[in-house]
Amino acid sequence: MRRILLIVSGSVAAYKALEFARLARKGGFAVTGLLTAGGARFVTPHALAAITGSRVHGDLWSLEEEVQAGHIRLARDHDAIVVAPASADLIAKMAAGLADDLATTVLLATTRPVLVAPAMNPTMWAHPATRANVETLRGRGVAFAGPEEGEMAEPEHGLGRLVEPPALLEAVRAMLADGPLAGRHALVTSGPTFEAIDPVRFIGNRSSGRQGHAIAAALAGLGARVTLVSGPVSLPDPPGVRVIRVESAREMLAACEAALPADVAVCAAAVADWRPETEAGAKIKKVAGAPPPAIALAENPDILATLSAAGDRRPRLVIGFAAETEDVIAHAEAKRARKGCDWILANDVGAGVFGAAENAVTLVTEAGAEPWPRMAKEDVARRLAARIAEALR
Ligand code: C5P
Repeated sequence: MRRILLIVSGSVAAYKALEFARLARKGGFAVTGLLTAGGARFVTPHALAAITGSRVHGDLWSLEEEVQAGHIRLARDHDAIVVAPASADLIAKMAAGLADDLATTVLLATTRPVLVAPAMNPTMWAHPATRANVETLRGRGVAFAGPEEGEMAEPEHGLGRLVEPPALLEAVRAMLADGPLAGRHALVTSGPTFEAIDPVRFIGNRSSGRQGHAIAAALAGLGARVTLVSGPVSLPDPPGVRVIRVESAREMLAACEAALPADVAVCAAAVADWRPETEAGAKIKKVAGAPPPAIALAENPDILATLSAAGDRRPRLVIGFAAETEDVIAHAEAKRARKGCDWILANDVGAGVFGAAENAVTLVTEAGAEPWPRMAKEDVARRLAARIAEALR
């Protein structure tokens, strides 16, 4: 059984650490809790002990522990260390290499993978000191999950919320490459493409990348090695995922082909169907009195169809999306045949899904159409990832 050391530091979000510990145990991990002095003000050792089913640590100066070099044991005896929530203070101490309590001493003494899930006020997260500390830690191989954007306790809105416990567990599994997709390579496309008109103008679309990024995170959360080829989006990279940023459809196709072989490909990107036939080398000037320029369009390559027809490099399972406003299932079935892919996730975009948090999809396979209830895009992603794991088993 995999073992996690969960370090809880001082933040209002500490209550979510309990939910994470519960989920992690349910997911087959053994969890040991460690509370910093600040953490112990938000969560009691009793609650953490009850939920982890094991003794909670906290005191560097415990005689009983030190007889057995307790901090060294804690640092070595776990497969991963998860710091959640991680306060700005604890992140600063980690970056500086301080070791003035049990948590910081363990973090300095460990050689195990460390995952940090920050939670703090958005101004503290944005502070140059915190930015520099996070970069320092990333440079040393520390993994980060979140923070997320949203409502803070203050109340205030911004980037600083602790990631939700299921996403944190995905990040742990991604870091440990642990789960039913361990050893598999998944290729995911996400976001829009931008097709250049000239050096400053482009044709784009409103895709946010939320669904594709959530799919990449969910696949990594089942242990897959994931390559995410993403058009321009304003989302953070999913933890544990290799992200390749592209702009145009042709760049996206080249990046996908370079990423092969893969066991599964999920094409969730909203690829532009057309691009300007030629890209002007210099900014097109507006000339007074002259008619607006005409932009001739050329057809873009179809990435989903190309991957589906990639011969011996074809991923075993190729999955596409179909955004439809009417006859959703009939169109999806036709698209599955036309593109040569295995599954289509059809979504009714009449229901307004672009940029939204939820999605209503129907999974269309050779066995038929299976409507899924409307749910969060992260849950669509997890359900799809579970189905992929089943199919590749
Ligand atoms: O043909 P349509 O755009 O409706 O097909 C949607 C599906 O095809 C999506 O999975 C999308 O990612 C993929 N696609 C693609 N390359 C294109 C156009 C669409 O991969 N040029």
